[in-house]
Amino acid sequence: MIPYDQLSKVNQPYQSAFEKAFREFLEKGWYIMGEGLKEFEKQFAAFHQAKHAIGVANGLDALILAIKVLDLPAGSEIIVPSNTYIASILAIIHAGHIPVLVEPNIASYNIDPTGIEAAVTPKTKAILVVHLYGKCCNMDPISQIAQAHGLAIIEDCAQSHDARYKGRLAGTLGHLAAFSFYPSKNLGALGDAGAILTQVEEYAIKLRSLRNYGSHQKYQNDQVGFNSRLDELQAIFLSIKLPSLTAITAHKRALASLYLAHLKPEFILPIVEEGYEDVYHIFNIRHPRRDALKAYLFENGVGTEIHYPIAPNHQKALAPWLAGKKYPISEEIHATTLSLPCSVCHEKADIFKVIELMNAF
Ligand SMILES: Cc1ncc(COP(=O)(O)O)c(C=O)c1O
Repeated sequence: MIPYDQLSKVNQPYQSAFEKAFREFLEKGWYIMGEGLKEFEKQFAAFHQAKHAIGVANGLDALILAIKVLDLPAGSEIIVPSNTYIASILAIIHAGHIPVLVEPNIASYNIDPTGIEAAVTPKTKAILVVHLYGKCCNMDPISQIAQAHGLAIIEDCAQSHDARYKGRLAGTLGHLAAFSFYPSKNLGALGDAGAILTQVEEYAIKLRSLRNYGSHQKYQNDQVGFNSRLDELQAIFLSIKLPSLTAITAHKRALASLYLAHLKPEFILPIVEEGYEDVYHIFNIRHPRRDALKAYLFENGVGTEIHYPIAPNHQKALAPWLAGKKYPISEEIHATTLSLPCSVCHEKADIFKVIELMNAF
């Protein structure tokens, strides 16, 4: 069996470092907001040459707090892609605003800048870009539109750790960036974890308070805050893994390059463009008989996933905002996309087996 992913194997190289760090953590007895969190925030900011990293409980909270800190008028419109994981849209709603969905480009799967301009109204206050599958959005035209209309840019970097656009890292392309370290992410914790990056000191100060009950000083609460601190133990584990992120990226790119070179043309492959350094958090292909292909691969011992099977506008939870709206490009992607094994738990031989099977489909 070639599983889609195998997290025990992904984390095996760090096991002895995790065990040593856990023993020290136990001996120290400081479980929340300790030195481990400070150290990870320092390292994660330094990796991005960003001024501030603020650890939070998960990627959804990172998005909610990144929106909240902007202090937009209640009910502002925030532009977001029509094909994204539901968290990007939920964050806008939880922050008290209105999601305005814009279709992706069918080749890049990321928000199409040409659709953004048409969606801007006087109520639009921000654009939430999602660097889906590990490819950055086409940021130059997006930044130009944002600047022309005075809009904030929030990056959803849950799938794009270490990806670059024109040499610049995802997470440094807008005003605020939200990361998830969900275990299967390219930089994954051993539980839930997330972080926000920003260059703006005022945001950083407010975010440190917002994640901690709106408090900078114990029992003194200046904002209506949350309990969304990045768990100390997860921060310690993430600091152990962060130095390997570039090697993780290189491994996934090497596997992806095999698919790109050897899959038959009947499979629609991710585009490779100059100026984009993709990290293949998800290596997806598209095929008109996606479900039959998935079943065939499963019968032949290959695990695959679908990111995602239901388009956001067809989710019951989002009906009050999206019922009746049509997003044909997003729906086409949802109907045809299939995610192939492409993890650090895989070797090149695994990928060659998948390729051989697929080319015989
Ligand atoms: C694009 C995107 N945004 C946000 C999230 C939310 O992250 P988390 O699961 O850590 O809350 C995810 C996670 O799967 C994601 O893929």
